[in-house]
Amino acid sequence: MLTLRAISAPARRQCFRAAPRRFYSERVAKFTGQKDASGNYPVSLIEGDGIGPEISQAVKDIFAAAKAPVSWEPVDVTPVLVDGKQTIPSETIESIQRNKVALKGPLATPVGKGHVSLNLTLRRTFNLFANLRPCRSVAGYKTPYDNVDTVLIRENTEGEYSGIEHVVVDGVVQSIKLITREASERVLRFAFQHAQEIGRNKVRVVHKATIMKMSDGLFLKIGQEIAKEFPGIEFESELLDNTCLKMVTDPLPYNDKVLVMPNLYGDILSDMCAGLIGGLGLTPSGNIGDECSIFEAVHGSAPDIAGQGKANPTALLLSSMMMLRHMGLSEYADRIEKATFSTLAEGKALTGDLGGKASTSDYAGAIISKL
Ligand SMILES: NC(=O)c1ccc[n+]([C@@H]2O[C@H](COP(=O)([O-])OP(=O)(O)OC[C@H]3O[C@@H](n4cnc5c(N)ncnc54)[C@H](O)[C@@H]3O)[C@@H](O)[C@H]2O)c1
Repeated sequence: MLTLRAISAPARRQCFRAAPRRFYSERVAKFTGQKDASGNYPVSLIEGDGIGPEISQAVKDIFAAAKAPVSWEPVDVTPVLVDGKQTIPSETIESIQRNKVALKGPLATPVGKGHVSLNLTLRRTFNLFANLRPCRSVAGYKTPYDNVDTVLIRENTEGEYSGIEHVVVDGVVQSIKLITREASERVLRFAFQHAQEIGRNKVRVVHKATIMKMSDGLFLKIGQEIAKEFPGIEFESELLDNTCLKMVTDPLPYNDKVLVMPNLYGDILSDMCAGLIGGLGLTPSGNIGDECSIFEAVHGSAPDIAGQGKANPTALLLSSMMMLRHMGLSEYADRIEKATFSTLAEGKALTGDLGGKASTSDYAGAIISKL
């Protein structure tokens, strides 16, 4: 029998609290940060664990050389106990809330009971509702397909990741996939706005509404409703299994679209897209929220090579370019991007993961020399 006790407290709150209804009729996730007295935008910087400090240093050096108007505010996310619960320090929360934007290195999640993933905590603390994952082929790094350029947006707060699971009877468990109009509306609206921003005229919802008629059905229906507000953008939909088959057969027809989907589908499909361009080491991401957004590399802390100067900072660097564009500083992003792609295409200063011998700082130096 389904009992309330069987559902975790946070899930219960999520399920039964009458959340204030919020309409997302205006532009969502607009950057509202302000310049400081020196004329720079302060950005909270979570260097992270393992290779985090090395790849963060490379990004800082490249930003300084490009004279990007950004001042870094280093923050610590080492958890503290508040009322017996693990949380991130209040100064860190205040810094990100003040600056509206953060760049984040990888955070190691200890294996075992009782450790809450800091990545999940950050997502929840700042209500980062959309995970934006562009995957673009890197010239000079050969993969089965050239010229891949996919853009995927994953709903980041609910769906299959709501954490509502319980035992029905011994040997039978149930997991609830939560889809709400509120969360669907904001992520779908963000998808349409993002398509406009990057000049794509198609938004495709990826779903399984044939099977999950109510949950995915609602997501799809809201997509159709929101599409009416964006007459310049074509609305499309596709079944998830079909998308997977078509993408691995020929990803190029996806280069003119923005894909948007519920949480679990986005988690899996975004890694599949990363595979098409050479793996997680080259994949950036943005966790987009209403007020604050956090940009991060998709890879982890790579403890096996930490402290050895071998790490490839490309994914964090590409994430920092997404951040600059989000902040309206596209001209700096374009310059850094050009220098980065030209360094990679030249192939003279590649890190070990891309088959080269360069150290993290050699690679950063090669990019700086092209700025
Ligand atoms: N967003 C995040 O903060 C995030 C994401 C994934 C994993 N993690 C955490 O990171 C830790 C290690 O996880 P993992 O070992 O499963 O995955 P990982 O991504 O850290 O490493 C997998 C492999 O890829 C290599 N690699 C990763 N990034 C690289 C880079 N920039 N340059 C060169 N090589 C790179 C590593 O050396 C390793 O061989 C775990 O604690 C995990 O929880 C954090």
